[in-house]
Amino acid sequence: RTKKSQDEIDLLKYINQATVEAHITTMKKLYQNFVVNKKKLIERDVENYFVSYIRNKLKSRNHPYDHICGCGPNGSTLHYVNNDQELKDGQLILMDMGGLAAGYVSDVTSTVPVNGQFTEKQKQIYDIVLNANLEVQNNAKPGVKWTDMHLLAERIIITGLRNYGLLSSSYTVDEMLNNRVAYYFMPHGLGHLMGIDTHDAGGYLSFTPVRSKEKGLSSLRTARYLEPNMVLSDEPGIYFIPYLLEQAFKDEKISKYFVVDKIKEYYDFGGVRIEDDILITDDGCVNLTEGLPRTTEEIEATMAES
Ligand code: GLY
Ligand code: MN
Ligand code: MN
Repeated sequence: RTKKSQDEIDLLKYINQATVEAHITTMKKLYQNFVVNKKKLIERDVENYFVSYIRNKLKSRNHPYDHICGCGPNGSTLHYVNNDQELKDGQLILMDMGGLAAGYVSDVTSTVPVNGQFTEKQKQIYDIVLNANLEVQNNAKPGVKWTDMHLLAERIIITGLRNYGLLSSSYTVDEMLNNRVAYYFMPHGLGHLMGIDTHDAGGYLSFTPVRSKEKGLSSLRTARYLEPNMVLSDEPGIYFIPYLLEQAFKDEKISKYFVVDKIKEYYDFGGVRIEDDILITDDGCVNLTEGLPRTTEEIEATMAES
């Protein structure tokens, strides 16, 4: 199950491209209803834009997982599923919504501003996550250990947060990386094997690297060396989870790395996740989710298209 056949790859490409279309449709409908028509919306309205498109396109009633559609602070709840809160101007909405057909799945997240315009603060956090997502795609190839891709994403997240003054510039990125500081902003694994299930089988087998006990790394659903025809999600994120951050502030071994007053300015920010599905090839990887607007400029332009 970890290495897909050509037929499976063709099917996953089809499902992913349907999902891309559904995400784009959702972004545009959100803008039309919330910004142009000034409608009151709840998160489930946004989920419904996606669901109606993907059901028609894939001729499937079912979904690979409960869609996560969280605006504002709800974006920081990793498996938020209530999707019943009202959207408020100025918030981001994190939309983790995939498609299912013939037993195969996509698992895709876009994070966009509900009013169609990123604030400077949102753009800064978003761009760190996008950089992590893209650098993983630039480096994932056969022979690379997935754990090292997770650490690459963490390095970019720590560097970005340090540049913007949320982490102390008195300490090096390496020291913070080694002390698992990134975990407090991304308390999940970078990505997982996928295909026949959202979190597909084969992550830890008797002949593959064992699960790490380190914070963050222990959440990885595989630590395997990449091989051609594996399909994985690439889903770095930055979340502001007050409960988790307060634990870091109280831990005398690591509290010195965090700029507490600055981080508290982000307590109602929520989170950003950018999740693509990638296919490992002979010498690199391809993004099955190609075509989604990913830069902040692309997202703003796409949302405003009628
Ligand atoms: N939607 C679940 C996940 O991203 O793993
Ligand atoms: Mn995923
Ligand atoms: Mn997901």
